[in-house]
Amino acid sequence: MRLDKFLCENGCGTRSQVKQLVKQGRVCVNGIPCKAADFKIEENDDIVNVDGKELKYAKFVYYMFHKPAGCVSATKDNHDKTVLDYIKKEDNKADLFPVGRLDKDTEGLLLITNDGALAHKLLSPKKHVPKTYYVKIKAPLSSEDIQRLEEGLDIGEEKNTLPAKVEILEECEILLTISEGKFHQVKRMLLAVGNEVLYLKRLSMGSLKLDENLKAGEYRALTGEEIKELC
Ligand code: URA
Repeated sequence: MRLDKFLCENGCGTRSQVKQLVKQGRVCVNGIPCKAADFKIEENDDIVNVDGKELKYAKFVYYMFHKPAGCVSATKDNHDKTVLDYIKKEDNKADLFPVGRLDKDTEGLLLITNDGALAHKLLSPKKHVPKTYYVKIKAPLSSEDIQRLEEGLDIGEEKNTLPAKVEILEECEILLTISEGKFHQVKRMLLAVGNEVLYLKRLSMGSLKLDENLKAGEYRALTGEEIKELC
C-alpha cells in the first residue's frame, strides 16, 4: 500500500495533509525517514512512525456512538452536524460511515465503521437483526394496540410490519423491539395505533448494546468480544 494511503487510513489527515507530513520528513518507515508519499509499504509488517509515534494498522475500525438529538446519520451535511463530526481526527479513518440511520431527533446506539460487509449483514432485510428502542409515547397503549404492534400492522408499506415485541415500562414508556428498518418505522408503527412518539432512543442492535457509560455525543471503540459477536 502507498505510504500516503496508509497515513490517511490511520487518521493522519487528508491526502494533501499527509503528503506535507511526509515532505517535512516527519514520517519514518522501519526507522528511516521517508520523503516519498508514493513509497510502497507492507502495511502488516513495516513499522511506520509519525513524529516518533508508531501507527498500528487496522483495516477495519468499529465505534459505538451514542448519537445525540440534532445530529444527522450522514457523513456530510450542509446544515447539521453529522455523526462523523463527533469522531476525533486521529480516529477518523477514511471511509467511515454510520451503519443505518436514526432520525435527526432520535438518540442512542449507532455503529460507525468502515467495514462494508458487516454493515451489509446488519442492514440486510433478510437477516432480521433485532433492534430495541426505548420509546416515550403520548398515551398509554391498550392491550389491543400491543397485540397489533406485536402481530404486525399496516404502516402504508406493501406488507405489514413483521412481528415486534412490546414491553411496558411505565404508562407512557415502552421498549419496542423490531427486526426491520423501514423509514421512520417506530414512529409510523405508533401512529398506526393512534399514538405518537415523544422521545426515541435506540438501545441495541443485534448483540450490540449501548454502553450506559457513554454520554450522548460520545463514542468508544468496540471491544474484541463485541466485534466477534457481531461479525
Ligand atoms: N424508527 C423511527 O421512527 N426513527 C428512528 O430513528 C429509528 C426507528
